[in-house]
Amino acid sequence: MNVEDQNLARYFEIARSARRCAVLTGAGVSAESGVPTFRGEEGLWKHFRAEELATPEAFARNPELVREWYEFRRSLISEIEPNEGHRALADAESVFETFTLITQNIDGLHARAGSTNVIELHGNIHGDRCNHCGRIRQDDEGLTCPCGGPFRPDVVWFGEQLPQEAIERAHAATVSADLFFSIGTSTQVFPAAQLPYVAADSGAFVVEVNPEETPFTRHADLSVRGPSGEWLPRRSTSSRRRARWPRGEASRIGR
Ligand code: OAD
Repeated sequence: MNVEDQNLARYFEIARSARRCAVLTGAGVSAESGVPTFRGEEGLWKHFRAEELATPEAFARNPELVREWYEFRRSLISEIEPNEGHRALADAESVFETFTLITQNIDGLHARAGSTNVIELHGNIHGDRCNHCGRIRQDDEGLTCPCGGPFRPDVVWFGEQLPQEAIERAHAATVSADLFFSIGTSTQVFPAAQLPYVAADSGAFVVEVNPEETPFTRHADLSVRGPSGEWLPRRSTSSRRRARWPRGEASRIGR
């Protein structure tokens, strides 16, 4: 694992005293659980076309195909478990005065790992909502809402607005954070990708955890080139009272 030297000491200093922490996660945080990412060599968008599967136009054109695609992804997710990265993030809730976990992931793995306060910017794959009135589908309902509209996955598609309340809460947590993590995201899909920049502009110390460089990398205060499931859970030997998250010590982070 590769970690920049120069800012590591500063990171540990800030992590020890930080009170408000916010985290943005993307598909990479679930990669070690076996959920495919979207971009990169093995990414879903290498094999499938987003415009045929994840847009309002695609659903209007061919709802069966879009539903099948989400059923396929639901079946993938139902067979996998949260990983050490998800668990470390759940752990972090009790370490900071405020801790906000903002995710682009729709897989629900953060909640399954024990996180209680997750802002799901792109929705959640496990639910359906009416495409007309927004009502959530109950388990015993079919494909059509009582209002006559078709039920669709309760996710955000390309070309759609993010849920207003979610983006406002995410933004508020980001501007007030003194420590911010951008984890497992290619920072290519806006507005979520804006959040690490907003955090940096607002004075937070920003750490990126990703095996690959991203467009945001050069703006990060610290870049950790490695998988989140390995880096996030590292523990220090310091006492619980003084420990700060992630509880690794500089000497224990491999380079
Ligand atoms: P991407 O697939 O664009 O990026 C995943 C990132 O995770 C890449 O930068 C990888 O290098 C990194 N990565 C891979 N394995 C990792 C690991 N073990 N630990 C840490 N990082 C790892 O996924 P997102 O950035 O989440 O939107 O994509 C954003 C949005 O684009 C998604 O929410 C989805 C997608 O199209 C919609 O469907 C609307």
